[in-house]
Amino acid sequence: MKNFNFHASTEMFFGKNQIENLPNILNKYGKNVLLTFGGGSIKRNGIYNKIYELLNDFNIVELSGIEPNPRIGTVRAGVELCRKNQIDVILAVGGGSTIDCSKVIGAGYYYDGDTWDLIKDKTKIDKVLPIVTILTLAATGSEMNRNAVISNPETNEKLGTSGENMIPVASILDPEYTYTLPAIQTAAGTADIMSHVIENYFGEEKDCFIQDKFSEGILKTCIKYAPIALNEPNNYEARANLMWASSMALNGLCKGGKTHGWTCHPIEHELSAFYDITHGVGLAIVTPNWMRYILSDKTVDKFAEYAINVWGVEPCEDKFETATKGINFTEEFFKKCGIPMNLGKLGIDDMLLEKMAKAVVTHRDLSKSYVPLNENDVLNILKMCL
Ligand code: NZQ
Ligand code: ZN
Repeated sequence: MKNFNFHASTEMFFGKNQIENLPNILNKYGKNVLLTFGGGSIKRNGIYNKIYELLNDFNIVELSGIEPNPRIGTVRAGVELCRKNQIDVILAVGGGSTIDCSKVIGAGYYYDGDTWDLIKDKTKIDKVLPIVTILTLAATGSEMNRNAVISNPETNEKLGTSGENMIPVASILDPEYTYTLPAIQTAAGTADIMSHVIENYFGEEKDCFIQDKFSEGILKTCIKYAPIALNEPNNYEARANLMWASSMALNGLCKGGKTHGWTCHPIEHELSAFYDITHGVGLAIVTPNWMRYILSDKTVDKFAEYAINVWGVEPCEDKFETATKGINFTEEFFKKCGIPMNLGKLGIDDMLLEKMAKAVVTHRDLSKSYVPLNENDVLNILKMCL
């Protein structure tokens, strides 16, 4: 196991009615609050009204309309609002897009240049306004991590950045807030959680047993509870387990001690950059194809382990058969969750595949991935996804 630092400092308020703690949480930072949210789901499900009821002695300024795949223009508008209104704390209410956008607004507040610099170069991120989140979608883990992903539609770029000070100071996770999710967002969110774990699970280290057991537990949680949440959207137990899985999958728990870079996320980010697709849907399509592409003598043992421990596959005499069953189960699971499982179904053809493959290797060094890939490998995987 390699050396690592684990820093997950967010205070998590998990469970029913935890929103009642909101005034106390915010009072630590000040009375001027920037309330950020997306396209209006929080108005339809009552969270918005509840916030105003609880925060009647705070000054609230709003930034609404944060896009799925949040855009740099929205970040810039948020920075302006913070400066104009001397904001003390940002309250991000929504999924990963709202939270990510808010993190970079918080960093941009203290940065003199253009905020896109903070996306291109994470070392420029220094101080950040305190970020408090109310999570409404189990998916990205942004509620408990240091990352943010922002899109620049002018340049067709969607890039991740990160900074220790962007870790939310507190997050409220009430599973009931996820009851109103459209089925496709529940499914896509589950695929995202699973991908965060899978990106780390497949590595060469043989002695990260504890990380692998955390990972298998999170994957089995998703496999057990996503179908229940899809059939019964108001099932508290299912929503609660998925929500906690979201936070645990990407707060460093499964990654610490492992060294390999990610592969499916860099590929998916280009699909989202060029076609503005839902992140988790792109991952569900890319992941089984990537698995098939890298299955070899070198990786077969790990894939067989995955098939047996995660999907309950009976070991076959031929390791490749065992491994392939695990990959097929992965694909079938996403399909059963209702995710369209090829790019054609999203209206994506082969027009920009080469451009996207080039962009993947320009933005990420895939030579450090579990199985090192070059531009041509990425192109082959994208073709398999069509
Ligand atoms: O905008 P509203 O109206 O709120 O609707 C949203 C949006 O349309 C809706 N939604 C959210 N909660 C809801 C709800 N609808 C009804 N009821 C609720 N309770 O869901 C839609 C998608 O929301 P979004 O925030 O975009 O989804 P998600 O949480 O999946 O975030 C995706 C973004 O996060 C980035 C992705 O690339 C993408 O930009 N990621 C961030 C990461 C991180 N910070 O660590 C890591 C991830 O790998 C990922 O890259
Ligand atoms: Zn993700």
